[in-house]
Amino acid sequence: MKKNLVIAIDGYSSCGKSTLAKALAKKLGFIYVDSGAMYRAVTLYFLRNNVDISNDAKVADALQHIELNFHSRDYESHITLNGEEVSDEIRLMPVSENVSEVSAHKIVRHEMVKQQQRMGKLKNIVMDGRDIGTTVFPDAPVKFFMTADPKIRAERRFKELESKGNNETTLEEVFENLAHRDYADTTRKESPLVRADDAIILDNTDLTQEEQLAFALEKVNPFLVH
Ligand code: DC
Repeated sequence: MKKNLVIAIDGYSSCGKSTLAKALAKKLGFIYVDSGAMYRAVTLYFLRNNVDISNDAKVADALQHIELNFHSRDYESHITLNGEEVSDEIRLMPVSENVSEVSAHKIVRHEMVKQQQRMGKLKNIVMDGRDIGTTVFPDAPVKFFMTADPKIRAERRFKELESKGNNETTLEEVFENLAHRDYADTTRKESPLVRADDAIILDNTDLTQEEQLAFALEKVNPFLVH
């Protein structure tokens, strides 16, 4: 049987990982999996249910009550938390402000990685996140590591929030949140954000979306079964 192809995309927050991942998935007919949405949905559940993350037993128990599912429509990834569509709510600041702490938790990571690896066994996928090329799929044949100027990243995320009708968060707050998450993601104990040795660096500060897609397709092409 033909082996599934996994394309791993890692990088800092708001670097355009999901935009590239979606474009690649659409072009290649792969499934797009947004691993950050999983950590965000878990964070939303923990916030709603006041789960004390300093208590491992409570965290483990809460995870047993969480069912996450992806529904892909037009290659936009929608995530449900116990059957409820939460795709928009997980992008808002309460979740953004708490997701670093939740995603640094060993038990949370262990469970999410297990679920992500299961997805990669079933289909050809493009998965984006922080540890996809290092921990989730260390054997992925194609890995990208994305970066961009922090100011540009904050502006992009700010515009995204604005377009969703969020006028409460300022550009400065978005910038601070990104800086905080970069720091937390790269310095945490459990699978910190680092570039896998074999990941291809993609700095998209001055690249259009089309240019990024063309660059990525060129790298992926040798691994496609034609
Ligand atoms: O990609 P994002 O900004 O939506 O991710 C939200 C948070 O989840 C981010 O601050 C780090 C964490 N994350 C992670 O630790 N590992 C992943 N594979 C994906 C996201």
